[in-house]
Amino acid sequence: MSDLSVLKERGLAELQACADESALRAWHTKYFGKQGEVTVALKKVGEVAPAERRAYGQEANRIKESFTEAYQAALASRKDQEINRSLAVDKIDVTLPGRPARRGRLHVATQMLRVICAIFSDLGFQIYRSREVEDDATNFELLNMPQDHPARDMWDTFYTTTPGVLLRTHTSPGQIHVMREFCPEPIRVILPGMCYRYEAITTRSEIMFQQVEGLAVGTKVTMADLKGTIVAFARRLFGDDREIRIRSSYFPFTEPSIEVDVDCIVCSGKGCSLCKRSGWLEIMGAGMVHPAVLKNGGYDPHRFTGFAFGMGPQRITMLKYGMDDIRQFWANDIRFLRQF
Ligand code: DAH
Repeated sequence: MSDLSVLKERGLAELQACADESALRAWHTKYFGKQGEVTVALKKVGEVAPAERRAYGQEANRIKESFTEAYQAALASRKDQEINRSLAVDKIDVTLPGRPARRGRLHVATQMLRVICAIFSDLGFQIYRSREVEDDATNFELLNMPQDHPARDMWDTFYTTTPGVLLRTHTSPGQIHVMREFCPEPIRVILPGMCYRYEAITTRSEIMFQQVEGLAVGTKVTMADLKGTIVAFARRLFGDDREIRIRSSYFPFTEPSIEVDVDCIVCSGKGCSLCKRSGWLEIMGAGMVHPAVLKNGGYDPHRFTGFAFGMGPQRITMLKYGMDDIRQFWANDIRFLRQF
């Protein structure tokens, strides 16, 4: 019994002295663990002389209860203190406004592409995607440029290590794919996509750039349809007062071939720095599909005619925003891209 009263006093005193939660838990193990002093004292009941056993057992149990109670109370007050401390020290001002997440946006090149696609879909054109890795036949030969044709010099080409496989230099080979897929149905499509040329990168030329090809094939398609389509397009894109100018040109896959200018969107033809005093801005190459190309697409050139055009939407974007360096498109400078 005297052992028990020593145990009781010492245990409670040690509990009072515990400075933090981990000390409290160590205290608990010391007294209530498998070899803990209270555990051992309780186990000893059987060894006590029968006369004293009852009193001993009752006292041992009282100690167990009072220790447990005191331990729980100490633990709870420790936790309260800890919460109060952290409330005081780690104060969070929940009324502080958050940092707004910046909204993403479409790349300016994508924006222009979407505008162009929307205009042509309103004019009844379907949008067709064609491959970027092409074969020599489709990129050149079927477009009326046999091997060693001098016009191939107009397109400096990235060839792959596989003979006859190259990166398309223009979207025009898509014309062949579309014709072969739709023949003998009439066609009205545009083909937007990336093109590649083995060129020096300068402010005016990139090795990777977008084009939008257009193709219409039918039994009554004329140059007047081409002109009407281009005027409608130019006015939707640049404004209702726009005029176009058609100049004679040469492409192997069209006959006749033309180049199309729009009157300058800045000076309306008076002459300024954007149009280099000419009053006109070049926007596309075009023409009537060459009979040989129609034939390569599967159409009988005696029954069918067609018009085609090809433009560089990035050049149009540059004109629209007065950009002077085509390299800015793919430079990924966020300060540039955020302007649009
Ligand atoms: N493919 C030509 C180029 O990359 C552009 C072009 C001109 C496309 C006339 C056409 C066209 O469809 O009729 O320079």
